[in-house]
Amino acid sequence: MPKLSIKDLDLKDKTVFIRVDFNVPLTPEGDEITSDKRIRASLPTIQYALEHCAGVILASHLGRPKGKPNPKMSLAPVAKRLSELLGKPVTLAPDCVGADTVALKPAPGEILLLENLRFHAEEEANDPAFSKNLAALADVYVNDAFGTAHRAHASTVGIVSHLPLAAAGLLMHRELEWLTRVTQDPERPSVALLGGAKVSDKIEIIQNLIAIVDKLLVGGAMAYTFLRARDEPTGRSLVEEDKVDLASHLLRTAGDKLMLPVDHVVVREVKPGADSEVVRVIAADQIGVDIGPNTVEEYTKIIREARTVIWNGPMGIFEMPPFDEGTVALAKAVADSGAISLVGGGDSEKAIKTAGVAEQISHVSTGGGASLEFLAGMELPGVAALTDKAARR
Ligand code: 3PG
Repeated sequence: MPKLSIKDLDLKDKTVFIRVDFNVPLTPEGDEITSDKRIRASLPTIQYALEHCAGVILASHLGRPKGKPNPKMSLAPVAKRLSELLGKPVTLAPDCVGADTVALKPAPGEILLLENLRFHAEEEANDPAFSKNLAALADVYVNDAFGTAHRAHASTVGIVSHLPLAAAGLLMHRELEWLTRVTQDPERPSVALLGGAKVSDKIEIIQNLIAIVDKLLVGGAMAYTFLRARDEPTGRSLVEEDKVDLASHLLRTAGDKLMLPVDHVVVREVKPGADSEVVRVIAADQIGVDIGPNTVEEYTKIIREARTVIWNGPMGIFEMPPFDEGTVALAKAVADSGAISLVGGGDSEKAIKTAGVAEQISHVSTGGGASLEFLAGMELPGVAALTDKAARR
């Protein structure tokens, strides 16, 4: 990695500002965490800083409070869970800036968690004065928030110019290593499995991955826009009419690298328990809800031979069983392939959990949006802002 790592820093008796992504799902009341995965993912970085005698300031956003304090998006439940996981006290600051927060400066070995950064509109505006105030809390900066690396905000970008060094945390480092490994010189054959509802969400990824992978297997509702572009009947399936020309262009560019479903699970009404059937050609009154068994077989054959698999997005209406069958079957195929596998995006992650194969996946990214932007070949501002090893001041 060309960027400085936390391991390159001298942390002893320093106050380190660690930007983490504790944007975790909460119950509607905002008092219970429903998945602590992101908190656990940053533990190695936090523990590393504590072991190296730093005073640790943790900062995160949670939800989208639109620049105003909102008790339902407080980091209080996170402070509690983090304290349980670390087995030591975690002080929650009343705010992320201001005299009361400054007064809570952690001594070496102590942890202060700042209140939700997005309670201030200046965070998302990457406001220079706000960035400076955040920086004033610490001596050195670490970014472990891979999930937020695609946002150019005060705590991910602005703050960096006010501190001497900005390094990647251990989670950030691991995420970037895996993403780099599967996109630059991957073990071949390399296969991308792309699903989800919309072509418009995945255009850049498709364009970028076509140049990288040997096969790009398409599923989910976005397949219907491609089928329409090939003049195949799609019935009442979800088609992005204004993206059909673009889909034609992508099909021409990709040639036989890009594969589309050869059969479909269809219904006449999308609702739980709807009667379904498997068809090769979708009739005028039918709606596609999943890839069919022949597609599963064809895609499985390709996945089985792959040495690298990149997967994003479900193959059907995954949240409405049994229309998750195609997605779950391919999750098992990815796990059984023994290929280096990278999964990004909440739905694909749920699929590997439902299929019970999470342990066999090489890397499940903690960042949906950030991993998509990386796979699309875009620069992540939160990574670009970190100090280059070569330029260490
Ligand atoms: C995420 O969950 O994708 C990150 O925490 C970023 O959140 P955002 O989409 O609200 O910026």
